[in-house]
Amino acid sequence: MTIHPAQEAKARQRVAILISGNGTNMVEIVHARKRGALDADIALVISDNPNAPGLGKAKKLGCRTFVAEYAAGAPREENERSIVEAIEQNNVDWIVLAGFMRILSASFVRRFPGRIVNIHPSLLPAFPGAHAIKDAFEAGADITGVTIHIVDELVDHGPIIAQEEVPVLPGDTLETLETRIHATEHALYPKTLQALFTEDI
Ligand code: GAR
Repeated sequence: MTIHPAQEAKARQRVAILISGNGTNMVEIVHARKRGALDADIALVISDNPNAPGLGKAKKLGCRTFVAEYAAGAPREENERSIVEAIEQNNVDWIVLAGFMRILSASFVRRFPGRIVNIHPSLLPAFPGAHAIKDAFEAGADITGVTIHIVDELVDHGPIIAQEEVPVLPGDTLETLETRIHATEHALYPKTLQALFTEDI
């Protein structure tokens, strides 16, 4: 019997996308899914921020959304409880961080080992943290870029699965550099996720 390549492929993966803000990477991932460039189902979009502009975009795209509001001063594990429930109830295989600006607890990371992916706007290990583009720009870096990695228990850290350089051009402002980095992210994230979900990378 001939096995058709489609039958050999990994089972279709179910994905939760976690956002905190604009959600432009989330939008690109959903668009890739809709045009058939990403063989995965977007089970839901989760935001820790009820006012994230990305939430409205996700709803408009027909995604199920869930808001996990963080209580100030509460332990991380407690704030993450509703996220864990939402992920487990929706049979999610992969957790895709797309501008999710909370640090995940070690117990959360251990619960989904090797199943959390993050995108970061620098060439890690350079410039971790919440202001990577600005930090690289202000440091006078000639080259910065984008990193996609599996999340481990440290911040902006873990096995790197894709990296793309973005040169800092003469005459760049922070805004022009940001625009090119985001464009790089928007192309790289869906492509890398497709490889991760369908090939053994
Ligand atoms: C992206 O540039 C992403 O790399 C960054 O937040 C932005 C979210 O944009 N993430 C981090 O800095 C994580 N440390 P988006 O909400 O428009 O996708």
